[in-house]
Amino acid sequence: MTTGARTDGRSLRTLCIDIGGTGLKAMIVSAHGKPLSERTRIETPRPATPRAVGAALQKLLPERTLFDRVSVGFPGVVVDGVVRTAPNMHPSWAGFDLATWFLRTTGRPTRVLNDAGVQGHGVVQGRGVEICVTLGTGFGFSLFVNGHYVPNVEFGHHPFRKGKSYEELLGDAALKKRGKKRWNRTLGQAIDQLQHTFNFRVLYLGGGNARKVDLPLPRNVKRVDNVAGLLGGVKLWERD
Ligand code: BGC
Repeated sequence: MTTGARTDGRSLRTLCIDIGGTGLKAMIVSAHGKPLSERTRIETPRPATPRAVGAALQKLLPERTLFDRVSVGFPGVVVDGVVRTAPNMHPSWAGFDLATWFLRTTGRPTRVLNDAGVQGHGVVQGRGVEICVTLGTGFGFSLFVNGHYVPNVEFGHHPFRKGKSYEELLGDAALKKRGKKRWNRTLGQAIDQLQHTFNFRVLYLGGGNARKVDLPLPRNVKRVDNVAGLLGGVKLWERD
C-alpha cells in the first residue's frame, strides 16, 4: 500500500504548523523553504484543551498525500515532543505527547519545538549570539549560539520591571490595555535590557504584533515576517 510519502530528501514536503494562543496556522513548505500552499488559519478554540485543539487541528490538516513530514511550533516548553507547559493555552497540556499525536493522526514523522524556537530556526544566520523574540499573545524568546538552539529559555516569564514579567508588560493583553504608545516605549526598554543581558549580535522581532512596532530600532535589531514562524519548520529537519 502506498502512503503517498516521498523519500528523496531534496523533495520532501514539510507541513508546518504554528499553534498559537489565538490562531492555529498551517502551510506546506518545500525542502528549500518555498511555500507550496496557502497559509491557512483558524481560531484557537477556548478553552484551549488538547482535545479541543486536536479537533480544530483535524480540520486544518491538508490531505496527507500532500506532505511527507510535520513540524510544529507550540507556545510552551516542549521536551522530546512532549508538552511541559502551555501558559496561554490550558494547564491540561502538561505531559501531552504532541509529537506522537501528530504521528498517529497524519502517519508522518513529526518534530515539535517551542514556537519561538521554530521561528528562530527560520531566521538566524548561525553566527554568534542571536535572539528571536516573538510578540503575540505571549512573549516568545529563543536563543541561538553559533546556530545552535538553546531550548526552552522562557525569558518572557522573567521579571522585567515593577515586579512584572516581559510577557505581562509586552504580551497582547498588555498592548490592548496599555495602548500602542506605552507598549512601544516598554518594548524599547526591553530591547535595551536584553542587549545588556545577552550582548546579542542580532535580535529578531517576529510574531503577529511585530507590525505594531513603531520605534527607532538599533541596527542589530531586525523585524522579521511572521511567516518565518512557519518556514522555520523546514530547518528543524536539518538538525541532528
Ligand atoms: C510561553 C512561551 C511561548 C510564548 C509565545 C509564552 O507564554 O511561555 O513558551 O514561546 O508564550 O507563544
